[in-house]
Amino acid sequence: MTTSNAAMPAHAQAEPQDAPPARQGRAASESAPSEFALLGLPKPLISALARQGITSPFPIQRATIPDILAGRDVLGRGQTGSGKTLAFGLPAMTRVAGTRAAAGRPLAVVLVPTRELAMQVTDALEPLGRGLSLRMKTVVGGMSMGRQIEALRRGVEIVVATPGRLTDLVQQGECSLADVKVTVIDEADHMCDLGFFPVVSALLARTPADCQRLLFSATLDGDVDKLVRRFLDDPVTHSLAPATSPVDTMEHHMVQVTRDDKFAVTAEIAGREGRTIMFVRTQHGVDRLVKQLARVGVRAGGLHGGKRQNQRTRILSEFRDGAVGVLVCTDVAARGIHVDDVSLVLHVDPPMDHKSYLHRGGRTARAGERGTVMTLVLPGERRSAESMTRRAGVRPQRLKAVPGDPLLAELAGARTPSGIAVPVWEPPAPVAERRPRREGGQGGDRRPRRYHDRSREEGERRDGDQRPGERRERRFDGERRPEGRSGSRGAGPRTRRAAQG
Ligand SMILES: Nc1ncnc2c1ncn2[C@@H]1O[C@H](COP(=O)(O)OP(=O)(O)OP(=O)(O)O)[C@@H](O)[C@H]1O
Ligand SMILES: [Mg+2]
Repeated sequence: MTTSNAAMPAHAQAEPQDAPPARQGRAASESAPSEFALLGLPKPLISALARQGITSPFPIQRATIPDILAGRDVLGRGQTGSGKTLAFGLPAMTRVAGTRAAAGRPLAVVLVPTRELAMQVTDALEPLGRGLSLRMKTVVGGMSMGRQIEALRRGVEIVVATPGRLTDLVQQGECSLADVKVTVIDEADHMCDLGFFPVVSALLARTPADCQRLLFSATLDGDVDKLVRRFLDDPVTHSLAPATSPVDTMEHHMVQVTRDDKFAVTAEIAGREGRTIMFVRTQHGVDRLVKQLARVGVRAGGLHGGKRQNQRTRILSEFRDGAVGVLVCTDVAARGIHVDDVSLVLHVDPPMDHKSYLHRGGRTARAGERGTVMTLVLPGERRSAESMTRRAGVRPQRLKAVPGDPLLAELAGARTPSGIAVPVWEPPAPVAERRPRREGGQGGDRRPRRYHDRSREEGERRDGDQRPGERRERRFDGERRPEGRSGSRGAGPRTRRAAQG
């Protein structure tokens, strides 16, 4: 396994064995725990991992943990589902263990692009850190800032945050980054995109100059160069296999359909058994597809940045629990989100670019499991879809399909839905959230606003927080306007009602 001091590009230093072994790796042999010990991790972490059945490191963890423990700045690239959370989380926790954070002065900060990902990272790391007496807090928009402030005042060693809310708390004097020893930026290339960059770099600038910095992503490409040059010191790059090498447990299919057949084909795929994630370009498109599916008998949950946070959280947890088998979402769920046993990802609308293809598709075939990625392509979209998959380094099987196609049944387990309408499932919003909206032209956004929440930074808005009806020209996080509306004010309430009939 090679390492390099070169900052960029990350994919230049390919290391073998990107993909983690199949899931049976979790039930590894008795000697396996010592592998984590050999990497230098402390006993309480190893025992906590073993309690979860994690006994042997994945390749990205083997590669990066020793360098992080040695205090190096690290760029880590490993395919989707290859275990990057533990690759940075375990050594970062080890680095700060043993020191108690002062009130409002965390010792490690993990920055991620979306609230759901922040909660997921906390859920993954917090139980492991208990044996090291590490206190953790998720600091994200859309959730009680008061509770986040209380936790910070009591003292937390590790904060997992989206950039906007953390900036708010820093500006209010509730959180100082002056004691931070380790900063992690997960999905680092995405966090260098236009909307995020200023807020992320402003936060990094508030950490001590000698603070350790770790940048991770499945597509750690040239975009991170700006952050690397400004904030990293002689970083080690660990890039496991070329940036576009396909996950070899993932099958790809490009399904050409006519506009008239597109919904019926989508509904048949939604009618399959097994957990399915469907990506749609716009928030409006998500709401519409959820309703259309309900009308033909498929219960699906819709997730996008226009919903209240408690709804977003409920929908994702119902999908995780298996209460709904189909999740229809925008790119808000494309990065980092892990749900066990998602066996198929369907691009209902083609992704924005090859990176989005890789991240969306990466919600299946994780941690050595098998999975299928299907892209529905209208005749006019074929050429761009082909060039995108080429850039993503995948060679999909191409087929033309019509509703009832036996090939769809064979490849995706597609089944004609019952046709008996089911109610659209939507978790209720708590009464407290139904306040009259305040002045300021944020039509349709009835979320309660506290503290500086109203002036959230751009980085936070990248969560996909554009609310239906919000009169803002800028859109983030790949949540694009419905086709043909690019010059308009977007899908405001009136437009939405009309479109939904
Ligand atoms: N050493 C390990 N042994 C077994 N399972 C592991 C191990 N490391 C991680 N996992 C599991 O692998 C799954 C995917 O991990 P993770 O979410 O960290 O992937 P990722 O590389 O961050 O993917 P993405 O690029 O999509 O964010 C999780 O369920 C995690 O618990
Ligand atoms: Mg991840």
